[in-house]
Amino acid sequence: MDPVRHKNDGLWGADCLEFDTLGSTNNWMLRNLAACRHGDVVQAVRQTAGRGRFNRPWAAPEGRALTLSIALFPSASLPLLPTLVGQAAAVAVRSTLAEFGVPARLKWPNDVLAGGLKCAGILTQLHGDRIVCGIGVNVNQPGFPDELREIATSLRIVAGREFEKEELLEASLGAIGEYGELLREEGRDPILRLFTQSSSWVHGRSVIVDSAGAAIAGTTCGLDESGFLWVRADDGRRHLIRAGGVRAR
Ligand code: BTN
Repeated sequence: MDPVRHKNDGLWGADCLEFDTLGSTNNWMLRNLAACRHGDVVQAVRQTAGRGRFNRPWAAPEGRALTLSIALFPSASLPLLPTLVGQAAAVAVRSTLAEFGVPARLKWPNDVLAGGLKCAGILTQLHGDRIVCGIGVNVNQPGFPDELREIATSLRIVAGREFEKEELLEASLGAIGEYGELLREEGRDPILRLFTQSSSWVHGRSVIVDSAGAAIAGTTCGLDESGFLWVRADDGRRHLIRAGGVRAR
């Protein structure tokens, strides 16, 4: 079926192409990046082979999640930093959820948590000198399989009601445009500050970091200018975590 085309005023999300079913919106965008413009969005009602960080599957087969990807091209003022761009997107998703009455917090590098469990994830991929930023929001899932029940949630579970995906999409694109502009016009600091304010993981959190095949136990102590996480290990040494997962200990 032909995709539907939505128009949006935001800088990110100027043009939004909606498919009924795609394997993965990130894969679609990576394949079609040459034909995309900065800020183009692709959305799928159903995603059958969605991917998360570390190539984990991201399941959203029944059309109950919001799944979209944005093409971002570098400019003198938009840093080509996937982590920071993912954090701008996380800040935008959090602000959208707040509009819909769902309080959320952010976990490094860019997870969105509601009621302490993950309700949205972001996968930013660098392709040449372009970034594809994929966003998945668990919207109307009534529950999750056993293996995910202790880590994942949906807006419906948290709020006890269903949400209109179209309304959420429109609001998300508006917020993504707004925070994209902020990053482009005012540089990194406002996004780093907003992410830090919205997260209880950036300072003073006792964590284990799984990074580059090793586990580091320590305490978080802020973000660097690229959005990477500083962790002071128990032996006193500071580590800059560029990739990996963080868990509470
Ligand atoms: C994560 O937390 O592991 C990131 C999940 C990202 C999922 C989204 S859904 C839309 C886009 N397409 C994909 O295949 N992945 C991202």
